[in-house]
Amino acid sequence: MSAAGPASKPATLRLDKLLANLGYGSRREIAGLARAGRIRLDGEALRDADRRIALTPDLPDRMTIDAERLDPPPGVLLLLHKPEGVTCSHKEAGPLIYGLLPARWRRRDPAISTVGRLDKETSGLILLTDDGALLHRIISPKASVPKRYQVSLDRPLRGDEGAIFASGTLMLEGEDRPLLPVAMQVHDATHAAVTLTEGRYHQVRRMFAAIGNHVTALHRDRIGALDLSAALAPGAFRLAGEEDVAAIFAAPGAGPA
Ligand code: URA
Repeated sequence: MSAAGPASKPATLRLDKLLANLGYGSRREIAGLARAGRIRLDGEALRDADRRIALTPDLPDRMTIDAERLDPPPGVLLLLHKPEGVTCSHKEAGPLIYGLLPARWRRRDPAISTVGRLDKETSGLILLTDDGALLHRIISPKASVPKRYQVSLDRPLRGDEGAIFASGTLMLEGEDRPLLPVAMQVHDATHAAVTLTEGRYHQVRRMFAAIGNHVTALHRDRIGALDLSAALAPGAFRLAGEEDVAAIFAAPGAGPA
């Protein structure tokens, strides 16, 4: 035996359960796909839906359904460029953020959910995951992951906003605890960036309302050190890799991961 001990075996799952959980159909439908030879592993048809499949990271490279690569197994993290006008909810009326994902991905169990929310009229970078532990790591106050927003304002800045936001004393209406300090970078009289580590309800809009201004457009362009890539058009998403997860927690000032 090596000093590191035996390598741990990957978890296994019945084929019908694996594919039903990924939204490919009911277990009965999956059994039908298998019998028809439409599911292949390493090129071989898998005809028994009760066969156990090892959940190895390379499974999407090895399994096909109707000659298409298998969807990513549970444990996904997505980076999505939220356009204005879509709601971060599973059930409200109007266009929903989940409508930007492939239909099959919306039937997954565990479900893919947003990590926090952006208002309907806010655009920018949002993360989605089916990994509850990762979601909690990202939103945990202990992690203090900074989020940067580009703000357009109705009225010119007065000049004292940066000091007020940085003071850690600003109280939002209806709350009994002041905001943690927020960093502000002024671009011009009506444009600025703010970086916050909390995520209170409508926080940026309410911060500017508290000092007598009004946010006319809001866009989140950074979470931790993860920038909204110019290549990700509004409405588009991509799978995150390990380096993206590292970037979320890597920003200066971010606490322990
Ligand atoms: N602050 C807001 O006011 N809205 C958002 O969507 C995010 C932060």
